[in-house]
Amino acid sequence: MSDLFDFGERVGRYAVMGNPINHSKSPMIHTLFAQQTQQSIEYTAIHVDLGGFDQAVGNFKASGGKGLNVTVPFKEEAWALANERSDRAERAGAVNTLKFIDDKILGENTDGIGLVNDLTVNHGCDLKDKRILLLGAGGAARGVIAPIMEQQPAEFVIANRTPDRAVGLADHFSDLAQKSRCRIIGCGFPTLEGQQFDIVINATAASLKGEVPSLPNDLLNENAVCYDMMYGAKPTAFMAWATNHGASQVLDGLGMLVEQAAESFYIWRGVRPDTQSVISTIREGLNNT
Ligand code: ATR
Repeated sequence: MSDLFDFGERVGRYAVMGNPINHSKSPMIHTLFAQQTQQSIEYTAIHVDLGGFDQAVGNFKASGGKGLNVTVPFKEEAWALANERSDRAERAGAVNTLKFIDDKILGENTDGIGLVNDLTVNHGCDLKDKRILLLGAGGAARGVIAPIMEQQPAEFVIANRTPDRAVGLADHFSDLAQKSRCRIIGCGFPTLEGQQFDIVINATAASLKGEVPSLPNDLLNENAVCYDMMYGAKPTAFMAWATNHGASQVLDGLGMLVEQAAESFYIWRGVRPDTQSVISTIREGLNNT
């Protein structure tokens, strides 16, 4: 074996696949993790055409790739492609992390643990016995339900513009809710009238259009925490709504992004990077754009 080949084998190759992908922060995040932990990895962003996901993964794996992050719109395809899945990924129906070991393709979903770690560790927000409201019932919402439930909230309401989707999600997770002794309910936004919550998490795509789901004015309890899974240089429309309606903490999804990446990095490399310094670096970059 030549030295050159030997060296090439020791650099772990990883990438994120999505469409679109050019604004992805994942290459920067993983490069910072690698520098900090002295891991020898190369991490790139790969644009994949619709309908070309399986082929792209096959090519990457065949060229020596060790693992992938997967983002919109391929998380369900990644779930189907994985031939071993964690319970969490199985339940979410979506996979954002693949790890290749010989012929095995392991699938994991680190989005939910990323959100929970950001809320609980970075922001000191205990979810146990709280009344939690999750807005939205698409892929983003589905991926975070099980890890939130593991924190044993008292009540977990999923509200969606199309109520049936929320009801379906609540049904899908009802056995987990029973195990966690938590009540889970799916409904439409009008049903929220007269109810108050300690933690409200926005997993709708409304922020992308600068919109806010139509929510009652008295939705927030005293000391309520509001979290938007989106992030940007400026507060999202939901964050502005939360501030105007008296939330005591208003958070965006940048911490979740870095925390889910840290969990993927751990799955691949067995090393846990420090996330605080990376969150600060990415935040500074956002503020300077
Ligand atoms: P993702 O994978 O990002 O969750 P998705 O599966 O298309 O994407 O789901 C988008 C979510 O945002 C849905 O819950 C959607 O509500 P519907 O199920 O009624 O479509 C929600 N959503 C999108 N735009 C919205 C808006 N302007 N107000 C409220 N909810 C919105």
